[in-house]
Amino acid sequence: MNTLLLDATLSESDRRRQLYDGQLFVYSATPGSMALVTLARDLITETFGSLDPETAQYQLPVEQYAARLAELKPKFIHHPLSKQFIQATLRELGCELERTYFDVPRMRTATSDDYLSTGIAYAFHPHRDTWYSAPQCQLNWWIPIYEIESGRSMAFHPRYWSEPVRNSSRTYNYGEWNKTSRFNAAAHIKSDTRVQPRPEQELELDPQIRVIAPVGSVLIFSGGQMHSTVPNRTGRTRFSIDFRTINIDDARELRGAPNVDSACTGTTMNDYLRGSDLSHIAGDLVDLYDRGPQARTVAPQL
Ligand SMILES: [Fe+2]
Repeated sequence: MNTLLLDATLSESDRRRQLYDGQLFVYSATPGSMALVTLARDLITETFGSLDPETAQYQLPVEQYAARLAELKPKFIHHPLSKQFIQATLRELGCELERTYFDVPRMRTATSDDYLSTGIAYAFHPHRDTWYSAPQCQLNWWIPIYEIESGRSMAFHPRYWSEPVRNSSRTYNYGEWNKTSRFNAAAHIKSDTRVQPRPEQELELDPQIRVIAPVGSVLIFSGGQMHSTVPNRTGRTRFSIDFRTINIDDARELRGAPNVDSACTGTTMNDYLRGSDLSHIAGDLVDLYDRGPQARTVAPQL
């Protein structure tokens, strides 16, 4: 990992190859990504009424704030337009919708000053998404809804792109998580007891990279990147959108980021929807990934 590419014009397959090598890509806002932002902002405004959403945390008791997020976030995730706007964004940024699958978008919030950093507004400790049963070919797409600054962004920890970290991903199974933990996020206000894969050693978080780009711009990175939520002390809540994609040919050929330390079981493969018609991934491929880490071992890049 050594390069951040801005508005790169290379082919989408070359972009994937570079993402699997750990590079980061940022694109200026597209009509689709801005439509996604506008939808998110409309729902946020509905939720907070006359309050400024970025500072509403200072006006509301935390239980009420968490309850509002618990209503807002699923509305955004399942809104009929959100999938259309993702399809548009993917098309505009060169993806072939027949070959590209995506999952529903999430809305993330990072409140300031430790107001709420559990459950519905979980502040992510350093992790790779591939510790959470994501395939090695997963790409993450990240879009700020309001202006961000370094103090309320996310951070990459490049040293660990190729360096393994002792971690508890071996205890994580996505299917189990779905059964037990996923649906009660809003109940975790003061502490979060849900078992998540974590580093089991001290990490050196610096040097780190934080990408600060305008509202609606799109940051793309590999699910194998070590990344975390920056502890927010800026006095404003960060709102962002993210979703994930996979390319079906890469999934079949086991291409993707190298697996340096993930030992989780289960798979998120059943969550992805084909860009062209929202159909799911064929069962045989889901089963291949469901069988565990050896199935996710990546073939050497040609
Ligand atoms: Fe993540």
